Amino acid sequence: MAWDPSDYLKFADHRLRPALDLLARIDARAPARIFDLGCGTGNVTRLLARRWPAAAITGVDSSPEMLAAAQGAGDGDAVRWLLADLAAWAPPAPADLLFSNAALHWLDDHAGLFRRLVAALAPGGTLAVQMPRNHAAPSHTCMAAAARPWWDRLGPLLRPSPVGDPAFYHDVLAPHAAALDIWESEYLQLLTGDDPVLRWTRSTALAPLAEALDGAARDAFLADYAARLRAAYPRRPDGTTLFPFRRLFIVARVRE
Ligand SMILES: C[S@@+](CC[C@H](N)C(=O)[O-])C[C@H]1O[C@@H](n2cnc3c(N)ncnc32)[C@H](O)[C@@H]1O
Repeated sequence: MAWDPSDYLKFADHRLRPALDLLARIDARAPARIFDLGCGTGNVTRLLARRWPAAAITGVDSSPEMLAAAQGAGDGDAVRWLLADLAAWAPPAPADLLFSNAALHWLDDHAGLFRRLVAALAPGGTLAVQMPRNHAAPSHTCMAAAARPWWDRLGPLLRPSPVGDPAFYHDVLAPHAAALDIWESEYLQLLTGDDPVLRWTRSTALAPLAEALDGAARDAFLADYAARLRAAYPRRPDGTTLFPFRRLFIVARVRE
C-alpha cells in the first residue's frame, strides 16, 4: 500500500509513546551498528541517533514516500536511509541492535521472520520490537463488517494479523536468547475531533480498502464504517473519544 507521511504523522504523539517505552527497556550500552526496520518518516530513528550518537544507524523502509519525508527532515550524516523490503532484507554485517517500532506486523510468517532477525545479530546483540496487537478491536471488526457488500474486492485486502501472542514469541526466541523481555500494554488513547478512529485507521489498515473502491461505493463503505465506529467508540461529553489500543513489546538479547 502507499504510505502517506502527513496522514501518519497526524497522531505522532500516540505513535511515539510506545517507541519511547520500548527504547527505555533496551540496555545496550554502545551498539555500533543499528538498523531501524520500517523506519517510516524517521522520527524514532532520530531518537536512536540521539541516544547512541557514535553508532552507524540505518533506517530501512520499503516506502519511497516515507523515506523522502525522513530524508527531508535533514539530519546531516547521522542516519543512512535505505529503500528495501524487509521480507528479503538482511544487514550487510551482523547488527548490534535491530529496532522496529510499529512495522513488523506488515510482514507475514513471524516464526521465520523473527528467527531470521535474531540470526542477523552479532553476539550479545539486541532485537527490540513493538507491534500493535489490536486486531480483535472494533476498529478492525467494524472494517470487516462494512466491507461485506464489496467482499469480492475488499475481502482479500483484509489481511489476517500475523502477530502472535506473547508465548509464541517466547517460544521462537527463547532458544537464542540470553535475556528475553516480552510484555503488552493497552494505551487508553484520547482522541479528539470528528471520526477520530477512522482518521487513525485511514493512514494504516483502512488505506488499501479505501483505495480499492471509488465514487459512490467508496463513499458508502466509508459512511458505514464511520457509523459503526461512532457506535463502538462514542464521543464523551467532554468531546474526547477513547480508543484503547493494545501493543506487544519484545526485547531479546542473544548470547555473547
Ligand atoms: C506504521 S509505520 C511505522 C514507522 C516508524 N517505525 C515509526 O515508528 O514512526 C510502518 C512502516 O513500515 C514500513 N513497512 C511496511 N512493510 C514493510 C516492508 N515489507 N519492508 C520495509 N518496510 C515496511 C512502511 O512503509 C511504514 O513506513
